Formats: sequence, structure tokens, C-alpha cells
Amino acid sequence: MPRENLERLAVFASGRGSNLEAIIAASEAGWLGMTIALVLSDVPGARALDLARSKGIPVETIPFDEAAGREAFGEALAGACKGHGVTVVALAGFMRILPESFLTQYPDRVFNIHPSLLPAFPGLHAQAQALDYGVKVTGCTVHLVDAGIDTGPVVMQAAVPVLPGDDVRTLSERILVQEHRLYPRVLSLWAAARIRIEDRRVWIDDAR
Ligand code: GAR
Repeated sequence: MPRENLERLAVFASGRGSNLEAIIAASEAGWLGMTIALVLSDVPGARALDLARSKGIPVETIPFDEAAGREAFGEALAGACKGHGVTVVALAGFMRILPESFLTQYPDRVFNIHPSLLPAFPGLHAQAQALDYGVKVTGCTVHLVDAGIDTGPVVMQAAVPVLPGDDVRTLSERILVQEHRLYPRVLSLWAAARIRIEDRRVWIDDAR
């Protein structure tokens, strides 16, 4: 059986969900290579949830519970994913750090997209960090998630020039165009078993 029939993707999103939208579009166009089995948010009412519902994709909302703590949050996320038969996870604007209790359930199977060329400008407000620093080129990165903040192995990157007069809005918009190209492409390469990880180096068979 081809691998694409086996992989079941969960997309985690806290907000707008434009990357989710790009992933859904790739799925609808027939080249994502896996089933979107779940859209999960920590934010009740997130636009990403409405989008998923409108496409008939199962949704779960799991708000972070301060009193229960991080590891309980991770266990709840993992429980939801297992319940939907999820085999791979894509963070798409998910603004929570995933605890060990989650990551150990999906080793080398959690991707994230970040709006800078990592390791530059990790964490929040990456576009503002790039503007404040004065770099001439920034971009976006798809990486595997490890226990650090935006420190996991880099899978693929796209560069975006910083133009004279750019502000956070204009720069973010241009980076987002590249994010929407990059993320579904990485996921489809992974679904086709064309991504290989050795230590923290990621090799992509992009020839076909
Ligand atoms: C995207 O720009 C994504 O790269 C960023 O949040 C935005 C989500 O947009 N993620 C991070 O900053 C993670 N550190 P979306 O909800 O429209 O996909």
C-alpha cells in the first residue's frame, strides 16, 4: 500500500489558519499525499477551527490549563491525536510550546513553520526582530520540533528580501506567500518518503 494511504496529519493552529488553508488547498488539489485527520486548537473560536469545520475536517479544542500544567496539556494533545489515528503533526501558527509528554509520542514527526530564516530570530515576533536588526534578507523555515524553542532540525527554507519602507505588516505578508508555498511542499515530500533525517541534518530527495 502506498505510504500516502497510511499517514494521517493533524494541523495545530491557534489563530487565523492561513497555512492550514494552504495545506487544505494542497489536499484538495490531490498532491498533499496524506489525509488531514484533525485540526486542533488551544484557542476556542480560532478561525482555523471554523475553516476546518467548513471543510468537514474533525476538530478538537484543548485550551492550556495553567493549574494542570504543561505535561498534562501534552498528554491531552497526544490523547486527541491518538484518538483520531494521527501519525504526523504540523504546527501552523500554534503559539504553545509542546511538552515532552507530547513530543515523545511523535519523535521526528512534528513539523513547525516559523517566519524567519532560523537560527535567526526564534520565538515571538520574528518579522519585527528582523526589521529591528536591520537584515536585508529574512524568510521562513520549516523545521522539525524538538524540546527547544525553534531549535529543531531545519527541513527547508525560503528567503524573502527586506525592502526599503517595509513594516511588520508588509514584510509578514510577503513572508506568508512563501510560507504557503513551502509548508504543503515539505509535507508532501515527507508523505512521499523523500525526507531523511540523520542527526540534525535533513536530506531531501527533490529530484523527481
Ligand atoms: C505564520 O506566519 C507562522 O509562521 C507564524 O504564525 C503565523 C500563523 O499564521 N508562526 C510562528 O510565529 C511560530 N513561532 P496563520 O495562522 O495564518 O497560518
